[in-house]
This record gives sequence, structure tokens and C-alpha cells, in this order.
Amino acid sequence: MTEQVYLNGEYLPLADAKVSVLDRGFLFGDGVYEVIPAYNGRLFRLDEHIARLNNSLAGIRLPMPQSVADWEAIFQPLLEGDKDQYIYLQITRGYAPKRDHGFPEQVVPTVFAMCSEIKPFAGRFNGIKAVTLDDTRWQLCNIKAITLLANILLRQEALDQGAAEAILVKNGYVSEGAASNLFVVIEGELITPPKNNEILPGITRDVILELAEANGIPYKEDIIALEALQTASEVWVASSTREILPVVELDGTPVGDGKPGPVWQRMDALLQAYKKSLS
Ligand code: PDD
Repeated sequence: MTEQVYLNGEYLPLADAKVSVLDRGFLFGDGVYEVIPAYNGRLFRLDEHIARLNNSLAGIRLPMPQSVADWEAIFQPLLEGDKDQYIYLQITRGYAPKRDHGFPEQVVPTVFAMCSEIKPFAGRFNGIKAVTLDDTRWQLCNIKAITLLANILLRQEALDQGAAEAILVKNGYVSEGAASNLFVVIEGELITPPKNNEILPGITRDVILELAEANGIPYKEDIIALEALQTASEVWVASSTREILPVVELDGTPVGDGKPGPVWQRMDALLQAYKKSLS
């Protein structure tokens, strides 16, 4: 079967989905995106993903009128069966007749969506290696912008060093991963940096904090100094596509005893049970 994707109101085979080279997404990276998981054929936390999308769109001054129900109607035909999958949605400021940094007079956004399978991340149960790197990104990291050059370079630097994720450091404090949110366990307490313009407000992050609250796991949202990260008994990175990954080696040094820790074991089990409960 040819994979069907959505482009500007139409469903068509991936190979036939084309946009102009003058699209501002192509020329400027002028757009935003969302990654929305679906478990058992059902979109996960769609309201929250669309709320974040609307914040991103407002952040780049490209408001769109679609309701959550409108977006759901667009995504539903792309889902295949009940496997774990995710919708990738990208909205750009569209085609403009000439390359000019200022917004065009008439904006017709380009809207693209496709569906991909979520495969369990290799190393999930054994843990991953991570390295700390300077957070070289811009000051609006709360916007889920398609302009990901800094994130890409940081992730690739981590890969080149044999690690699966880069943990980003800004002014002596850790913010998040190149494509994930960050959690640490220090003296039994789960800590994640607070939401502000230095991190993407992750949906998985919210789910983890809700599960901690509901299950009596001590937690707080607080700034984390690099030295605190280095003393943590557990470090995790979390995202929609990789779920919660325990970091067992940081900058070549074991985290805790070098194995996924007990708080991760518990939280991962809670997340898996929560996903199952949604079917
Ligand atoms: N990225 N922080 C950054 C910088 C991210 O890119 C992501 C996710 C997250 C986690 O957000 P969520 O839990 O809503 O997935 C945090 C997606 C998966 C991506 O770029 O593919």
C-alpha cells in the first residue's frame, strides 16, 4: 500500500506530496510542528498538543482557526490500526512570490501531516549514554519551531560521541535534551526544570508529573545546576517518541550505579499502565 499523507486539504501518496521551493518553510524554516502519539488507534492528549500548537502559532504570529475536532478529522484517516504511532504535523507560513524576510501580504499556510510507527527505543531497558553540551539555541525554545538547526547539531555531536542524547547547559544550569525534557532524582526527589522560554513544554513531561502526583512520588519543578546533575542518582530524558529513557552514563561517568534506577522503573511501569488504560 502506498503511504498516504495529508497536504493542504488533500490525502495523497507520499511521493506525490510536493510544495513549492518558494515555501517559507523551505527558505527560512518559517513554521512550527507537533508530534502527537496515538496508542491503540487513539490520539494521545490531543487537546494539550493542539493547545501547544496554538501557542507556537501565536508565537510566530500565524494564528489558524482550526478547532481540536477539525484537527482530529484531518489526522484520523492517517492512523493505521492499533499499533503505537505518531502524527507529525507541520505548518509553515506558506508560499510567497519572492524571498523576503518580512511576512508576505497574503499568507496561505502550508499544512502537512503524516503518520509514522513508534518503535520502542533500543536501549530503553539498559539505559542510554548522554553528554552535556552548551545550549546554543535561541531564546524562544517554548515555540515548537521547525527551525531545528541547533538541536540537530547538538544531537549529532552527542551521536558522534557515542551517546543517544545531548543534555543542554545554559549559564551553569541544565535546561532539557536536544529533543527531550530532562528529569533527575536527587535524594529520592524527582526534579525537572520549570516551564519557561528555555524549554519546550513537553506533553510527556506533564504526564510524568501527573503520575508522580497521583502515586505519591515526591517531585518538584526547579532549576538544576550542572553540579547537581552530576550528583543525581537518576537522570532521565522524556519525549513522545522515545517515552522515558534512563541515562546510565553521563559524560563518560556512571549515573548512580550505572543501571536504570528504581524511580525510573516505577515511573516507566506507571506510564505503560496508563497507556494501556486508555484503550
Ligand atoms: N521533540 N524538548 C524538545 C526540545 C523536544 O524536541 C521535545 C520533543 C520535547 C518533548 O516533548 P513531548 O513530550 O511533547 O514530545 C522536549 C519531538 C518528539 C521531535 O522533535 O521529534
